[in-house]
Amino acid sequence: MTMIIRGGTVVNADRAFRADVMTYGDKIVAVGESLEAPPSARVIDARGQYVIPGGIDTHTHMNLPFMGTVTQDDFFTGTAAGLAGGTTTIMDFVIPSPKQSLLEAFHVWRGWAQKAAGDYTFHVAVTWWDDSVREEMGILVRDHGVNSFKHFMAYKNAIMADDETLVNSFRRALELGAIPTVHAENGELVFQLQQDLLRQGLTGPSSHPLSRPPAVEAEAANRAITIAGVLNTPLYIVHVSCAESLEAIARARANGQRVYGEALAGHLVIDDSVYHSADPEFAAGHVMSPPFRSKHHQAALWHGLQGGNLHTTATDHCTFCAAQKAAGKDDFTKIPNGCGGVEERMAVVWDAGVNTGRLTPSEFVRVTSANAAQIFNMYPRKGVIAVGSDADIVVWDPEGTRTVSARTQHAKGGFNVFEGRTVRGIPSTTMAAGKVVFDRGVLTAEEGAGRYVERPAFVPVSAQS
Ligand code: URP
Ligand code: ZN
Ligand code: ZN
Ligand code: ZN
Repeated sequence: MTMIIRGGTVVNADRAFRADVMTYGDKIVAVGESLEAPPSARVIDARGQYVIPGGIDTHTHMNLPFMGTVTQDDFFTGTAAGLAGGTTTIMDFVIPSPKQSLLEAFHVWRGWAQKAAGDYTFHVAVTWWDDSVREEMGILVRDHGVNSFKHFMAYKNAIMADDETLVNSFRRALELGAIPTVHAENGELVFQLQQDLLRQGLTGPSSHPLSRPPAVEAEAANRAITIAGVLNTPLYIVHVSCAESLEAIARARANGQRVYGEALAGHLVIDDSVYHSADPEFAAGHVMSPPFRSKHHQAALWHGLQGGNLHTTATDHCTFCAAQKAAGKDDFTKIPNGCGGVEERMAVVWDAGVNTGRLTPSEFVRVTSANAAQIFNMYPRKGVIAVGSDADIVVWDPEGTRTVSARTQHAKGGFNVFEGRTVRGIPSTTMAAGKVVFDRGVLTAEEGAGRYVERPAFVPVSAQS
């Protein structure tokens, strides 16, 4: 039951220091130099390595029914892949269909997630509005540990939230002490641009980014920020992909608004040239929304992370195989949107962030776990190596390398947007809830070992109505 990680450099968001870390059961029980451990303790040698909090991926979609199909990764394979990459907690999305009860959908997702190998928690999407939604948001916050609600401003005729829904839901979230989040793209503009492109016979995947230019994202980001500003709610914008959205966040923050932004590992390192590949299967494999952008936008996203206007890194892990993507071979609007990455995020952000000098190791921890834990109220249970915190710990080998390939990944789908990329800086050992689940390339993730993480509201329950 007792484990001791000896000789490493502990990296938290606030500082890095030499210390041993001792765990008992699922908690960290001691952090300090030359700790004494019982003779029966298992020893993990971390000399020459960092000891960091398990990663939190704020944005995944396991087992998601979407665009007429279901993602390849379920909660077991998806969380197991995360553990192999040093991510010990995922934040997934309950997405009720319009008119579906939020509670009913929440319980369906909870059922699917029973098989998770790593810890998980849920944002719940508000896709429509009436008094029952208002009521159920309260039940989710009070009784089910949900403190964030998601709004898709895109996907017209499916799960898109109109302004009436946004305003009502943001207002309700404020009453409850929950944080509204948005997928910022103007769904009407996307829809009309898609129809224009199809009418011109431009049916291939290279039309996907043309139907979702940066201005379409920026309009929605500005609208959501404006609504949040009028109502005085905080706001978290998922998968910020362009300079214009980042500027909107920076402006709002400079004006005193509490707006947070999330960057995806893919958006940080992959550019839009992937859509011009001569291989339509390769291009379709990269169809996700918002799309990959030019290097100008990539640079802006790094500046956002460095400058503190973007706060978290995620993946939007949402895997579809080639056969599923082929549903859109004659019409790009039918290509299921989504790409993977839960297994690669930590290494990609380290390699492109820390190895380049853009981020310090502590800043890396901030944007891969600590900020997420704080923004979504899981701190200090998650996001820090400290006594009393969950024993979700990664021994991070800054000299270890891996060349990413769909052939060797644990995630399903047979495709990897980071294919061929060699990263330096990888987990050598991942501990989740006090158990070693990945050690020097060997994954021992256990189906069902993951736990649902309740996240309390940001105001006392007594103040809620
Ligand atoms: O293309 C994407 N991102 N698919 C998943 C759903 C979403 O928009 O997050
Ligand atoms: Zn219930
Ligand atoms: Zn989205
Ligand atoms: Zn998503």
